[in-house]
Amino acid sequence: MAEHVLVTGAAGFIGSHIVDALLARGDRVVGVDNFDDFYDPAIKRANLGAARRSDVFSLVESDVRDDAAMRDVLRSTRPDVIVHLAARAGVRPSIAAPALYADVNVRGTAVLLESARDAGVKRVVFASSSSVYGDTSVVPFRESDSAVCPVSPYAATKRAGELLCETFAHLEPRLRIVSLRFFTVYGPRQRPDLAIHKFARLIDSGQPIPVFGDGTTSRDYTYVSDTVQGVLAAVDRTREADVQHELYNLGESQTTTLAELVALLEGALGRTASIQRLAPQPGDVQRTFADISRARAVLGYSPGVPIQEGIRRFVAWLRETARPATPVVPSR
Ligand SMILES: NC(=O)c1ccc[n+]([C@@H]2O[C@H](COP(=O)([O-])OP(=O)(O)OC[C@H]3O[C@@H](n4cnc5c(N)ncnc54)[C@H](O)[C@@H]3O)[C@@H](O)[C@H]2O)c1
Repeated sequence: MAEHVLVTGAAGFIGSHIVDALLARGDRVVGVDNFDDFYDPAIKRANLGAARRSDVFSLVESDVRDDAAMRDVLRSTRPDVIVHLAARAGVRPSIAAPALYADVNVRGTAVLLESARDAGVKRVVFASSSSVYGDTSVVPFRESDSAVCPVSPYAATKRAGELLCETFAHLEPRLRIVSLRFFTVYGPRQRPDLAIHKFARLIDSGQPIPVFGDGTTSRDYTYVSDTVQGVLAAVDRTREADVQHELYNLGESQTTTLAELVALLEGALGRTASIQRLAPQPGDVQRTFADISRARAVLGYSPGVPIQEGIRRFVAWLRETARPATPVVPSR
């Protein structure tokens, strides 16, 4: 059944893939994005290149913190469901600007939930993060873990966003909300600040890569098509009347150390990395590792792209996008 979906953060890395997937399955989509300067807004405009050609996609350039604008867009478009991805992302930059992160990620989420409630929108999917688990050695991470010791402002804002979803669903029983904890998502269009993208470009151009710590930190890297599959399943889950607020991990449930990641990139790029070893960074955690049994059981989530294949696909995309434009033959 085709639906009308409003996606915030639609022009970003994950948001643009979700928009494309929703359009591909026949949904109508309204994207909301303020094209902030966290990275080059031209990249975000390019991310929406395919969607902009669809006549069932529209874009609203607006800030989720602007309550008048959010009320307007929700009242005029009346979506069946909201996928709320708009945020300041990134663990390390949040240490330099905690108030900005709180403003966008916490107040922005509160404004959006309040506007949704007042406009009678019943269903919301919220993008949270594996970072909410903090620096714990208890693995794999389960949704039932307490997650009360975030070690970066970013992580704290994402946990606060989940708690706001919990509260709104409690106070307004018509609201059905699913929060998803994404585990380091990568793939085509990945944010340029993230390790896989940054390292690949540096290795390819023969420059040293900054490696924080001894290479033993590990991450549960998730290929973006698997994340998208989980988000679409969560959108469908919010149709069920028994949902109030539910939490799911979306990872691969496979971990890769930083040293292994660098080796995989070297193999896919066909080049050797030069490593600039730096001290571990405050805010970073030693490991992330998702228990995905709840998402498998309830959402039918079934991630299928192992890191070796995902890195090959990422490098193929990087090479494709880096290819110089076809030279123009001068007319005589
Ligand atoms: N990429 C990951 O590995 C990862 C991991 C865990 C959680 N997440 C979460 O997933 C979501 C998407 O992340 P991403 O990697 O695609 O990041 P991204 O920066 O590429 O996308 C975020 C988008 O939100 C927009 N935005 C920011 N502030 C806004 C505001 N105030 N109003 C409207 N739009 C705004 C940005 O312009 C951007 O297009 C975020 O909520 C992020 O916290 C991402």
